Amino acid sequence: MPEMLKLILLLLLISFVNVVYSDTKDIIVSYNGYYSTKFRQNLLTKTFIAEIQARPIEFSDFDLVKIESGNFENFTRAISKIKVILKISEDKTHFRNLNEFKKGLLRPNKSSSKHYLDIRQIADLIRADRLWMKGFMGEGIDIAVFDTGITRRRTFFKNVKSIYDFTNEGNSADLIGHGTFVAGLIASSRRRCSGIAPKSNLHIYKVFTNQQLSTTSWFLDAFNMALQSKIHIINLSIGGPDFTDEPFMSKVHEITSNGIIIISAIGNDGPVFGTLNNPADQGDVIGVGGINLEEKIAKFSSRGMTTWELPEGYGRIKPDIVTYGSQIFGPSLYGGCRSLSGTSVAAPVITGAVAILLSSIPEERRRNPAMIKQVLAEGAKKLETNASMFEQGSGKLDLPASFYYLQKYLPKISFFPSYIDYLECPYMWPYCSQPIYADALPTIFNITIFNGYGIGGEIINEPIFEPFEDDNGAFLDVHLEYSQKIWPWSGYLAVFIKIKPEASNFNGTSSAQIRLKVKTTNKIHETIFKFRVKIIPTPLKSQRILWDQFRQMRYPPGYFARDNLEQKNSPLDWNADHPHTNFKDLYEHLRENGYFIEISGYPLTCTNLSSYSMIFIVDPEEEYFPAEIKAIQKAVKNNNLNVIAFADWFNSTLIKKIQFMDDNTGKLWFPETGGCNIPALNSLLNVFGFAFGDVILNGKFEFGESIINFSSGSTLIKAPKNAKLGMAKLNDIVSLFFFCN
Ligand SMILES: *[C@@H]1O[C@H](CO)[C@@H](O)[C@H](O)[C@H]1NC(C)=O
Ligand SMILES: *[C@@H]1O[C@H](CO)[C@@H](O)[C@H](O)[C@H]1NC(C)=O
Ligand SMILES: *[C@@H]1O[C@H](CO)[C@@H](O)[C@H](O)[C@H]1NC(C)=O
Ligand SMILES: *[C@@H]1O[C@H](CO)[C@@H](O)[C@H](O)[C@H]1NC(C)=O
Ligand SMILES: *[C@@H]1O[C@H](CO)[C@@H](O)[C@H](O)[C@H]1NC(C)=O
Ligand SMILES: *[C@@H]1O[C@H](CO)[C@@H](O)[C@H](O)[C@H]1NC(C)=O
Ligand SMILES: *[C@@H]1O[C@H](CO)[C@@H](O)[C@H](O)[C@H]1NC(C)=O
Ligand SMILES: *[C@@H]1O[C@H](CO)[C@@H](O)[C@H](O)[C@H]1NC(C)=O
Ligand SMILES: *[C@@H]1O[C@H](CO)[C@@H](O)[C@H](O)[C@H]1NC(C)=O
Repeated sequence: MPEMLKLILLLLLISFVNVVYSDTKDIIVSYNGYYSTKFRQNLLTKTFIAEIQARPIEFSDFDLVKIESGNFENFTRAISKIKVILKISEDKTHFRNLNEFKKGLLRPNKSSSKHYLDIRQIADLIRADRLWMKGFMGEGIDIAVFDTGITRRRTFFKNVKSIYDFTNEGNSADLIGHGTFVAGLIASSRRRCSGIAPKSNLHIYKVFTNQQLSTTSWFLDAFNMALQSKIHIINLSIGGPDFTDEPFMSKVHEITSNGIIIISAIGNDGPVFGTLNNPADQGDVIGVGGINLEEKIAKFSSRGMTTWELPEGYGRIKPDIVTYGSQIFGPSLYGGCRSLSGTSVAAPVITGAVAILLSSIPEERRRNPAMIKQVLAEGAKKLETNASMFEQGSGKLDLPASFYYLQKYLPKISFFPSYIDYLECPYMWPYCSQPIYADALPTIFNITIFNGYGIGGEIINEPIFEPFEDDNGAFLDVHLEYSQKIWPWSGYLAVFIKIKPEASNFNGTSSAQIRLKVKTTNKIHETIFKFRVKIIPTPLKSQRILWDQFRQMRYPPGYFARDNLEQKNSPLDWNADHPHTNFKDLYEHLRENGYFIEISGYPLTCTNLSSYSMIFIVDPEEEYFPAEIKAIQKAVKNNNLNVIAFADWFNSTLIKKIQFMDDNTGKLWFPETGGCNIPALNSLLNVFGFAFGDVILNGKFEFGESIINFSSGSTLIKAPKNAKLGMAKLNDIVSLFFFCN
């Protein structure tokens, strides 16, 4: 476990980058409703001279204007006076990385085809054929495929109902094959790689260029077209770390609030946890993960938790569901079939399955994304392999089971996960991996609420906490937070659990329920969430570790440079640092060795530091408050608290050097600050006579019986006289970056 040792001397540094530099800005101007082109043009030109881009739809709720950076302030001032303009935001460029697809331009490899799943086999595995036999093949269901367009050779696409190009390429031709492949998985009629819902109607919306570039505004246009065309399902072909693209996010919610079901891949950034892609991580979107032929979570599949609730809160569970996404056959651009793996492949499998489901119910029941989520979850089968809920969501798609639940469906409120039980391991990881105890910081369950009654709902009265007396419920000390408005279709219930002091020697389980009343269109529905936790006697102080989560920035908005500078192929980092996400291995290692980890999302002055033997400060980005420094100092002196700092590199010259030109967007990216804020960390360490420097080293050294790979770490430049130091001969790697450009 190199991290364990690394933390003694080095800092993980990550630095973030922001898009800047460019003489003109593309600004999205959002209106409070849909207005005609003429009305909007008049409004804008009357107010400000700017280049206004034409929109493909007559009635739009936004415009894209190009303005010179120098004019930006004047522009905002002028715009702020117009009532019908809600907000302005920068148009963002999205780049999709399709590593595997480059190979895809080859013709299919017949000799290797036996390793792949063709559509017959998938249909068998997800038992779609049973529903086909009943006559449900997606008939009457309109699916918009947001992708790279479609091949010009369309003989195998019988039901293409519309084709639009929203990009600046001026045509809908797919030269890459991605759009063609995924559209084919849904509804092609090519032998061996026909679609799962062969009778559904395809609407091809090209939003990615053949260079895999897209912009927020193209997506907004395509979404508006979907609204206008009364599409049923959108399979969204974008996934990225950015959950802060406001116009995009509000459009996603507007789409689902209109009853359109959005299905999106959860991402191919696994196996690390905390790598969920947006918008698949949203409550109202169906986020799909991938499994392989052995029914294991595919290595590439991104996994939970959602991270933007950090640091004070806790993430929600995603993906929603998993299905086959490894080596699946779909149509290639050149005739014949080819195979592909990825959650991009699993998403259309779910899209096809949902089309089959929708085609089995009348039109007036089809516009309810919460219902579809509920029946998918209800039907799903937990994997027999030991994947946790943060990897498999409700489990593997079981189409006939979901079909059955859909046929007898009655509207309801449901929870995801539907309960929490500490005795169910590893499915309930990380909860089941660490029992709770008196004196600990609260454990948080952040539960998603689905409302099958309608788009909106409201939690009325305070939810009621009801401990089970016959299972030691009286030991629980529970605080609840929740979204009063459940909109669109979903909300949350956050349960903060502490154990009362009188249970500090108790060893056993404890359970309770929470009773919730949701009001929808004048009816009140009651629903119950149950949970059971495992309680142990409060561990010894020597076993207790405090993890400081409060110092972590929420990533993105910007991007962060990699911890390991030598990973040059992926210079940007966007994983939130948390013991249940990218520091899972460290967490497990500490747990296996008898330690208990408590996570603090608040300033350290809110916590009784004398309860812990160690505080972990991992890759901090925020400053310490003077009062916190004092509190740590006092706990070190009086209570034997040990401070363990993990970090990486920091060198201001290097930070300037690693800016790079993104050829795709023509914009310059550079780290805005020094990432892991070593100067801030030093302000804490200084009171103990330590400081980290700005020379960045790498190399290997022996520590005990291990060989440590020291990747990109800092030097120690100051230590007190009596400090015990380890010495190693390492290489300065900054010089490697000091050439070019
Ligand atoms: C912005 O507005 C001010 C006052 O209205 C004007 O003096 C200035 O020239 C404008 N700036 C630009 C760059 O147009
Ligand atoms: C086709 O697949 C087989 C088996 O996977 C492999 O050995 C062979 O090299 C492949 N041929 C081409 C042209 O890629
Ligand atoms: C729970 O999740 C919701 C939705 O992401 C978020 O708004 C809220 O802050 C979270 N609460 C906690 C306590 O984690
Ligand atoms: C479905 O969405 C995923 C990403 O979310 C994408 O990779 C795939 O291409 C999409 N499929 C279709 C048919 O658009
Ligand atoms: C599941 O099992 C594998 C191999 O047996 C193991 O490496 C992994 O840690 C287990 N996962 C969980 C969540 O227990
Ligand atoms: C708690 O009880 C379990 C058996 O139910 C036992 O294995 C465990 O050692 C006990 N733990 C403590 C700390 O007493
Ligand atoms: C802090 O914890 C210590 C040891 O756990 C305890 O003795 C002390 O009373 C606590 N202080 C406060 C203010 O709760
Ligand atoms: C950055 O690293 C280089 C190379 O090790 C070193 O010479 C320099 O002093 C460091 N600090 C700054 C601020 O450049
Ligand atoms: C250290 O690096 C070597 C290659 O340089 C690699 O083989 C080894 O697995 C690495 N060790 C760890 C613990 O990452």
